[in-house]
Amino acid sequence: MRNGCFLIPFTVILWSSFVATLVADRVTSINTDQDALLALKDHIVNDPQNRLTTNWTATTSVCDWVGVTCGTRHRRVRALKLSHMGLTGTIPPHLGNLSFLVFASFYNNSFRGSVPDELAKLRRLKYFTLQKNYFGGEIPSWFGSFTRLHTLSLANNSFTGAIPPSLFHLSELDGLDLSNNDLQGPIPGEIGKLPKLRILYLIHTGLSGSIPSAIFNISSLQVIDLTGNMLSGSMPSANVTMSSLRILDFGSNNLTGSLPSNLFNNLPNLEGLYLSRNLFHGQIPAALFGCKQLKILSLSYNNFEGKIHKDIRNLTKFYVADAEMLSSISDVLSLELLNLQNSGLTGPIPSAIGNLTLLWNIGLVDNNLTGTIPPEIGNLVNLKIISLSANRIGGPIPVRIFNISSLRSIEMAGNYLSGHLPSSIGLQLPNLERLLVGENELSGPFPVSLSNASELLTLELNSNFFFGPIPDAFGDGLRNLRYLNLGNNSYTSNSLSSELNFLTSLTNSKNLREVILSLNPLKGTLPISVGNLSSSLEDLVADSCQIKGSIPEGIGNLSNLVLLSLQDNDLKGTIPTTIGRLRKFQYLSFSGNNLEGSTPSDLSEVENLAFLHLWENKLVGSIPSCLGKVSSLRELSMGANNLTSTIPSTLWRLKDIQLLQLSSNSLSGSLPLDISNLKVVRHLDISGNQLSGEIPSSIGDLIDLAYLSLSNNRLQGPISRSFGHMVSLEFLDLSRNNLSGEIPKDMEKLTYLKYFNVSFNGLQGEIPGGGPFKKFSARSFLGNEALCGSPQMQVQPYSLPGAVTQIADANLKDHGQYPAAKKDCLSSILELALQCSAEQPEERIDIEDALTALKKIKAKFLKDSRGIGTSYI
Ligand SMILES: *[C@@H]1O[C@H](CO)[C@@H](O)[C@H](O)[C@H]1NC(C)=O
Ligand SMILES: *[C@@H]1O[C@H](CO)[C@@H](O)[C@H](O)[C@H]1NC(C)=O
Ligand SMILES: *[C@@H]1O[C@H](CO)[C@@H](O)[C@H](O)[C@H]1NC(C)=O
Ligand SMILES: *[C@@H]1O[C@H](CO)[C@@H](O)[C@H](O)[C@H]1NC(C)=O
Ligand SMILES: *[C@@H]1O[C@H](CO)[C@@H](O)[C@H](O)[C@H]1NC(C)=O
Ligand SMILES: *[C@@H]1O[C@H](CO)[C@@H](O)[C@H](O)[C@H]1NC(C)=O
Ligand SMILES: *[C@@H]1O[C@H](CO)[C@@H](O)[C@H](O)[C@H]1NC(C)=O
Ligand SMILES: *[C@@H]1O[C@H](CO)[C@@H](O)[C@H](O)[C@H]1NC(C)=O
Ligand SMILES: *[C@@H]1O[C@H](CO)[C@@H](O)[C@H](O)[C@H]1NC(C)=O
Ligand SMILES: *[C@@H]1O[C@H](CO)[C@@H](O)[C@H](O)[C@H]1NC(C)=O
Repeated sequence: MRNGCFLIPFTVILWSSFVATLVADRVTSINTDQDALLALKDHIVNDPQNRLTTNWTATTSVCDWVGVTCGTRHRRVRALKLSHMGLTGTIPPHLGNLSFLVFASFYNNSFRGSVPDELAKLRRLKYFTLQKNYFGGEIPSWFGSFTRLHTLSLANNSFTGAIPPSLFHLSELDGLDLSNNDLQGPIPGEIGKLPKLRILYLIHTGLSGSIPSAIFNISSLQVIDLTGNMLSGSMPSANVTMSSLRILDFGSNNLTGSLPSNLFNNLPNLEGLYLSRNLFHGQIPAALFGCKQLKILSLSYNNFEGKIHKDIRNLTKFYVADAEMLSSISDVLSLELLNLQNSGLTGPIPSAIGNLTLLWNIGLVDNNLTGTIPPEIGNLVNLKIISLSANRIGGPIPVRIFNISSLRSIEMAGNYLSGHLPSSIGLQLPNLERLLVGENELSGPFPVSLSNASELLTLELNSNFFFGPIPDAFGDGLRNLRYLNLGNNSYTSNSLSSELNFLTSLTNSKNLREVILSLNPLKGTLPISVGNLSSSLEDLVADSCQIKGSIPEGIGNLSNLVLLSLQDNDLKGTIPTTIGRLRKFQYLSFSGNNLEGSTPSDLSEVENLAFLHLWENKLVGSIPSCLGKVSSLRELSMGANNLTSTIPSTLWRLKDIQLLQLSSNSLSGSLPLDISNLKVVRHLDISGNQLSGEIPSSIGDLIDLAYLSLSNNRLQGPISRSFGHMVSLEFLDLSRNNLSGEIPKDMEKLTYLKYFNVSFNGLQGEIPGGGPFKKFSARSFLGNEALCGSPQMQVQPYSLPGAVTQIADANLKDHGQYPAAKKDCLSSILELALQCSAEQPEERIDIEDALTALKKIKAKFLKDSRGIGTSYI
């Protein structure tokens, strides 16, 4: 009876919920589903692959539509899979009517907007992903009512705000991924209530606060990844028992303290522990080495200490930051990858590393390793990558390393390595993709066999003592070559030819991006074939290479060129007009050659040109006025040529120019008021021309200007008081003009001024004495007859008030002792002297009073200097 009483209400509940479902399902039908999906189709504004446009039509059954699956029994829409379709649009509220929906994926499309609240009706949902779209707004709290939800991914969207605690009511949740959103706040402690969670991804979400210890109560967890947040505080200390946990990743946060010793007691299946880039310190708990499955240990960029225990037999990938650990690692024979980048390692590389024969990747970049490379590394027959750049390793590269035919990448730049590269290197290392040995002390001829290293992508031999010719056929076999840097060696071209033929061979490298040859005595001419180099070439740099001849017209074919620098060579002829075709150009330098003719006006077509350096050539004619159109210009240097006519007015429109160098030409005309348009100019040099007229006072608006030279022109008129506004000035040269008037006292405010020259003008009046003027010597003021100032300026002595300095005894000024007392005394005397020498008798001080004052000054000085020298009175 008691049982029956219980049973009845229970049955009633069951029955009524059954009826409710029945009613709900009866009022909706497959037509409802069709309407909902057609509404979705209506909200899609772009369907680039035409997946839905032609397929979702009312003439066929919804159940046959692409991406739609219906239940076999009830024939209602059960699954909606729209992943990777490239769809742009929004989700309409109608979608909430798909009352039988169990599975919904919008993964990898361009949906935007917020998720409509009507979706809260999808009570049967088990799998829901919006991953990789542009959804925004807060994460709806009604997700918490999907009691059957198994997987929820909102990753790679723009959701904001806190994680709603309601999410942690999802008692069936197995996987939760909120990575790559703009969330804030902490990870709620309620997370411990998810009894079935296996996978938790909260990567790069912006979450802060500490890690709730409750996270370690979820015994079902297999993967916890909290990388790249702003989590702080210490690791929760808990007696953790997580027998399923495989991956624990707390990397790139702000976690502090040491690791609690009980953390690793019961993690029997831990395979990967990632704690890099935090602020942890202290010993690594011994229990960690009891985690028998540990394969990946990433501890770098912390302050851990101690050794790695040799029990840790299954470790394959090791990222650490401690020298002691490096020496202890040689017992871990399972190791496949060792990465100790930027870890402050010192001392030599232990030779026992040669025991770790499974190693394929050794990364020791950016440490302070010394000694030589142990030849035992030659035992590592599986080695593919060895990166030792930026250390202080010396000696030769052991020849045995060049026998490891699996090697793909040798990175040893920035050490003190010496010796030769083996001539057969290209034959011994057929898989070589990267050879980076720049900035060492290597020498020897170019290894001819490198032409056979057909996989080579990057070759950097720069800044060594290599010498001899670069083989003509060098590039013949290098079809994949992208980056070539041979700069700063003693390479020459083939002595039998006057052309740089190796450049012709590089036309085989169809993906070439960068060629750097600077600072080698190549001595040849550029072959016409330069124009046949890959159109993917972005940088071509051959400064100071003694290159002769002219610039080939074909250079205009290199349509992706961003940087072309052929500075300081012996180039002749004219600048080819074809370079105007190089629309991606940002940097062009032909400075320091013997180029003739005029500046091609086509250069003004190069929209992004930022640096144009044509300094020191033999260019004639005028500066093309259309250069003023190139608003991207940052630096224009055309000094030391033979340019004539006026500076085009358009040039003063270059609002973003930082350097304008037009010195040593024959430019005439005057400086316009517009000069103040050059708002950010830092370096302005128009010295050595024939400029006339006055310096416009608007020049004072150039408050970023640090270097200004207008010397050797025919400028006249005064130095405007506005010069006192150019507060960034460090260098100012106005010498050898016809300037007149006074040096404005306002210029005393130019506190950064280190160099000042107004010599050989017609200036008059007093030289200011304050601020930077205290440091300038006579050389700054030579040849201005009407200037006056203190005697060491070698100009006329000061007029009356200034002349009182001469009342004082020279001894007083020169003695180094008691400077403060003397200064004080001197200034009191000067003040008194001034009072005695006032022009009107009634303003002069009475002689009795003057004597009294003098006595007081003397007494004070004697007191201050404790009895030193009295001869001055
Ligand atoms: C829609 O696509 C599905 C799946 O690709 C296909 O079976 C069906 O025939 C298509 N229907 C129409 C009308 O194109
Ligand atoms: C996303 O979808 C596009 C097609 O729209 C595809 O090309 C791309 O590879 C997909 N990306 C990912 C990460 O699956
Ligand atoms: C479906 O949803 C929309 C919007 O939420 C609503 O207007 C409509 O009445 C719903 N019902 C059916 C049967 O389409
Ligand atoms: C998500 O975004 C991150 C960072 O932008 C990116 O690295 C990752 O590949 C993206 N994932 C997917 C599945 O698109
Ligand atoms: C870590 O903390 C420092 C200062 O406490 C802060 O400057 C830095 O941005 C933080 N880094 C992260 C990833 O939160
Ligand atoms: C931690 O767990 C171990 C067994 O795994 C147990 O012996 C110990 O008493 C526990 N310590 C605490 C503080 O709960
Ligand atoms: C290495 O892993 C295997 C299973 O993959 C395990 O049986 C063995 O105990 C581990 N060895 C050590 C020394 O931890
Ligand atoms: C390497 O050592 C030198 C001198 O001992 C030190 O100045 C430098 O900071 C160290 N560099 C690194 C990356 O640890
Ligand atoms: C490791 O290498 C060292 C030196 O190369 C050698 O003496 C030692 O026997 C090797 N250990 C093992 C376990 O092979
Ligand atoms: C500059 O040009 C003038 C006339 O055009 C010429 O006399 C002079 O020699 C040239 N100067 C230089 C340095 O080329």
